[in-house]
Amino acid sequence: MTGIAVIGVGMGEPEHLTGQAVAALNSVDVFFALDKGSAADELFHLRHDLCRRVITSHPYRFVDVEDPRRDRGAADYGRAVADWIAARATALGEAIRRELGPGERGGLLAWGDPAFYDSTLRVLDALLDPVDVEVIPGLSSIQMLAAAHRISLTRVGRPVQVTTGRRLAACGFPSDCDDVVVMLDPECSFRDVDHVGVTIYWGAYLGSEHQILISGELDAVADEIVAARAEAKRRRGWVMDTYLLRRSS
Ligand SMILES: C[S@@+](CC[C@H](N)C(=O)[O-])C[C@H]1O[C@@H](n2cnc3c(N)ncnc32)[C@H](O)[C@@H]1O
Repeated sequence: MTGIAVIGVGMGEPEHLTGQAVAALNSVDVFFALDKGSAADELFHLRHDLCRRVITSHPYRFVDVEDPRRDRGAADYGRAVADWIAARATALGEAIRRELGPGERGGLLAWGDPAFYDSTLRVLDALLDPVDVEVIPGLSSIQMLAAAHRISLTRVGRPVQVTTGRRLAACGFPSDCDDVVVMLDPECSFRDVDHVGVTIYWGAYLGSEHQILISGELDAVADEIVAARAEAKRRRGWVMDTYLLRRSS
């Protein structure tokens, strides 16, 4: 089997993997790792560890692909991301050409599920030499959040919006949607939305032994979340958190 498998690995624990993901991991000869700063070191080790624990029958190797720097201060955010995707595609394409032998299968591990705020598929789309891509879904932090709080994200016949902290800060709580999942929010942008009638379900390090959960009326728990997040970051050097804002209707 050749081509590239993009495998959603949930939050990095073997029990988060689907049977399909375990089979795909066991079919890969070369894993390409595009990593980037902050939590990268720990996530890098988690991925290696995951492979060691679930790949039982197949020799494999990891190839680190140097991740081009992204211009985070750029005035044109969209342009900066597009340039970064193109540079990543160049670096990954070179690694694939150099490392993947005839008849070998490549793999890329996507944190959570590749469908949510993950650039892997866009990078593969931008390769100059197209490759066959198979996507194996994984458990997203969004699902881990809902399960941990024992809630459904969708209320009867209602939509849910998935967005970023940056967008929440820029546009506020959407007027046409009462349930909003927010990812990528180091600034705790929930502090600045209109708190009236809003409940927050927050989770950090979801699915891991370090998981932290806080929920309640936004007014009542916003400061507690900010403090818990800061303390978690101080302790471990990085934190990943996701939350649902739910407005009463
Ligand atoms: C680049 S996105 C990747 C999302 C990932 N593809 C997914 O399906 O969860 C990174 C964001 O995912 C969320 N996230 C990832 N892992 C998490 C975890 N273990 N606990 C809480 N949030 C997490 C955070 O909002 C983080 O800023």
